[in-house]
Amino acid sequence: MPSLTSFAAATALLGQAVYAGPPLAKRAVPALAQVINQKALNVLPTVPPASDYNASSNPWVPLNYTAEALTDKPFHVYDDAFLDILGPNPTFTILAQTPKDPIFHEAVVWYKPTDEAFFVQNAGNPDAGTGLNKSAAIYKISLKEADAVKSSRNAVGKVTVTEIPSNPQIPNPNGATQYKGKLLFAAEGQGPNIAPGLFVMNPVAPYNTTVLLNNFFGRQFNSLNDLAINPRNLDIYFTDPTYGLSNNFRPAAGMQTQVWRYNDVTGAVQVAADGFIMPNGITFSPDGKYAYVSDTGIWRNGLELGNPSSIYRFNVMEDGTFENRKTFAFVDTNIPDGVHVDSKGNVYAGVGDGIHVWNPSGTLLGKIYTGRTSANFQFVGGGRMVIGGETQLFYVTLAAEGSFVEKYL
Ligand SMILES: *[C@@H]1O[C@H](CO)[C@@H](O)[C@H](O)[C@H]1NC(C)=O
Ligand SMILES: *[C@@H]1O[C@H](CO)[C@@H](O)[C@H](O)[C@H]1NC(C)=O
Ligand SMILES: *[C@@H]1O[C@H](CO)[C@@H](O)[C@H](O)[C@H]1NC(C)=O
Ligand SMILES: *[C@@H]1O[C@H](CO)[C@@H](O)[C@H](O)[C@H]1NC(C)=O
Repeated sequence: MPSLTSFAAATALLGQAVYAGPPLAKRAVPALAQVINQKALNVLPTVPPASDYNASSNPWVPLNYTAEALTDKPFHVYDDAFLDILGPNPTFTILAQTPKDPIFHEAVVWYKPTDEAFFVQNAGNPDAGTGLNKSAAIYKISLKEADAVKSSRNAVGKVTVTEIPSNPQIPNPNGATQYKGKLLFAAEGQGPNIAPGLFVMNPVAPYNTTVLLNNFFGRQFNSLNDLAINPRNLDIYFTDPTYGLSNNFRPAAGMQTQVWRYNDVTGAVQVAADGFIMPNGITFSPDGKYAYVSDTGIWRNGLELGNPSSIYRFNVMEDGTFENRKTFAFVDTNIPDGVHVDSKGNVYAGVGDGIHVWNPSGTLLGKIYTGRTSANFQFVGGGRMVIGGETQLFYVTLAAEGSFVEKYL
């Protein structure tokens, strides 16, 4: 541990705030970060009932903080280990903003060959309209343009957001990952007759698409939400909640809401896990031995506060089956939607106030605070991260790096 003198000198040099109490006292905190002492907040003068304050309320502002102070230094350190994830000089930029359309919603994904990030509009949001031409919109940005503005906090207007025409059109894409040099989307479908499915898209013009899977023995899925490829067996695992029904663009459940597994070599489709209300985000540890799946049952038909807003962890066996369901984390702000891991196995989720980060034991290390719902986000190579915030898009750089199926990039 550094001496207090050298610590004080280091932080004075950087001109940074220093947290004074235990147990987070011994390290320099980057300019855009602040320590939140959870221990000092364990006993509050008043604690409101759930009818006044709950998962859907505005993000928590700890006692003696303001929303402005939380936004001003958006990297919130709850555990020293978060400083290793941030590195000495993390950056945080608002890249783009729309007045109304929630185009920065889901399926954030990096396409390495052109160094672009793709993302999709929120199909369920009334502002996305009811026709597929609007609700199924896919967009992209150049990460070179994002890198150029990373030292400013607000770069709205400086980065081009381009809509791209998938063809044939992917019906309400929601989750995405890299797949054999292309992009693979989980799509929710539309109405009773346009089936959900897995769609491969050519990430360069003419953005042509191919359907990989759209049924289970002739039966429609509900509304595919998110997907991940296991780095060990390369099977595609995907979640199938009923958010198309919640958002009035798909019929009632035709099958149990669960996690599926698809082997694209043999064509086998099988269930990987059930016991969820709304299985949502999914990811694998870098070695493929753990699966993380979120259950956002707290939002199904409106808010049901007694339901999970949780991430579960499974062991992935040699044969690709899931075992040992374990409750990994319960989030304090809205739902854990998209879930991803870094190269060291730390787990990140998009929640009601930005991104929360846990170590592999489920201890909260820190938050990347956007002050608004982030349904999804992704590492986009080299310690860079693109965060969707519905009508705002964020760009973050830090020390941590994403975990990818390298040969599919
Ligand atoms: C909040 O501020 C009050 C007044 O300065 C102080 O007594 C209290 O200890 C502070 N609480 C926390 C958790 O910082
Ligand atoms: C949750 O809190 C909000 C206030 O932030 C309140 O309007 C709403 O009714 C609460 N919901 C429930 C189910 O208690
Ligand atoms: C949707 O876009 C396609 C291709 O541009 C066009 O042919 C079609 O008429 C549009 N449909 C609606 C309902 O606007
Ligand atoms: C796009 O079209 C090209 C040329 O026909 C074809 O080689 C490629 O496989 C297509 N890609 C997808 C994802 O459909």
